[in-house]
Amino acid sequence: MANKTILVTGGAGYIGSHACVELLEAGFQVVVVDNLVNSKAESLARVEKITGKSLVFKHLDIRDKAALQQVFADYPISAVIHFAGLKAVGESCQQPLNYYHNNVYGTLVLTEVMQAANVKQLIFSSSATVYGADACNPYTEDMPLGAINPYGRSKAMVEDILRDLSEADRLNQSTNPWKIALLRYFNPIGAHSSGLIGEDPNGIPNNLLPYVSQVAIGKLAQLSVFGDDYPTPDGTGIRDYIHVVDLVKGHIKAIDTLAGEVFAQGGCKAYNLGTGQGYSVLDIVNAFERVTGRTINYKIAPRRAGDLAECFANPALALEELGWQVEKGLDDMVADTWHWQSNNPNGYEA
Ligand code: NAD
Ligand code: UD1
Repeated sequence: MANKTILVTGGAGYIGSHACVELLEAGFQVVVVDNLVNSKAESLARVEKITGKSLVFKHLDIRDKAALQQVFADYPISAVIHFAGLKAVGESCQQPLNYYHNNVYGTLVLTEVMQAANVKQLIFSSSATVYGADACNPYTEDMPLGAINPYGRSKAMVEDILRDLSEADRLNQSTNPWKIALLRYFNPIGAHSSGLIGEDPNGIPNNLLPYVSQVAIGKLAQLSVFGDDYPTPDGTGIRDYIHVVDLVKGHIKAIDTLAGEVFAQGGCKAYNLGTGQGYSVLDIVNAFERVTGRTINYKIAPRRAGDLAECFANPALALEELGWQVEKGLDDMVADTWHWQSNNPNGYEA
């Protein structure tokens, strides 16, 4: 494993920067490409500070084919972890072309360049959002798909493209077939225990944990709890929150798995990365208050359009085939979120 070079697209972002730490600590060489549309290069400086190791950073857009080809010409890349993409559901409804161009076309360019360079091991950031309304808890990978917004559909389209790519190699009996892991993330939260890297959303956060932590630090006045009339024990929505460090460790396991027996004949397989444990919005608020000693000012508000009552994973396949399971619980997730937020009230801004 040591000395293998991994290309990390979107490596300056929230999950990508945590992945870079784990990759460097596991002995990989890391090349990051990122256009910094939703991140800052400071995150990578912090990755180097945490690990005491250096990585290569190329400031480029993955849709710039010539620039990406040059990266493959310059470095001995053996696998790609593909985080680069846009991820805001509401924005995707307002700017669908931008989302499809970035997430779908960007992946087409990446896979074309990989294929030409004969680098055919890929780990893709998919999402639980690809599951359809017919899927039921806990979600397994074989449940029906059916995303309900442009962001989710961009993930589902990329999954289809990658399955087709792998199937073509099977039909053509390729001697170096594509090996692809589609990792379907549930709700990543938390931060590295150093407090040096974490989630740094632009503007007012859409997601629960960044919102709660900005209320706790006094940047936002009040949390709106979106609905308390769901068919759940306390009436608020239930999600499968997963510590970002556990999540990225799943990617390291996937690199090993792609190179091993499970993918010996090539293939494209989906894996849920979740804990299997659901928590409600009020569970999160209570945990945050308990762990941080801060009071979270909140009110009950109407349901948010497009929200499900409950969503949590069955992560058994990831345990069986990737040899991966989570190590951190809710208190770690909340404490690390707060450590990052309180050390960096303005994120990566000085
Ligand atoms: P992020 O926005 O923090 O990171 C994405 C990174 O990709 C950013 O650094 C951004 O600048 C970069 N990027 C975007 N478009 C690019 C392009 N065309 N060329 C080069 N770089 C580009 O988001 P994140 O939370 O770290 O998410 C990483 C991936 O995981 C995304 O694909 C996202 O859709 C997926 N995902 C995230 C979550 C979540 O809750 N955070 C859940 C499921 C899936
Ligand atoms: C959202 C996205 C999903 C994406 C995921 C991770 C929607 C409809 N879904 O999922 O596609 O993959 O983020 O980026 O946007 N909540 C509040 N108040 C808030 C914020 C959230 O009560 O201010 C509640 C929500 O109603 C939900 C829970 O907290 O029950 C989690 O919300 P969020 O963090 O936005 O994640 P998801 O809705 O699961």
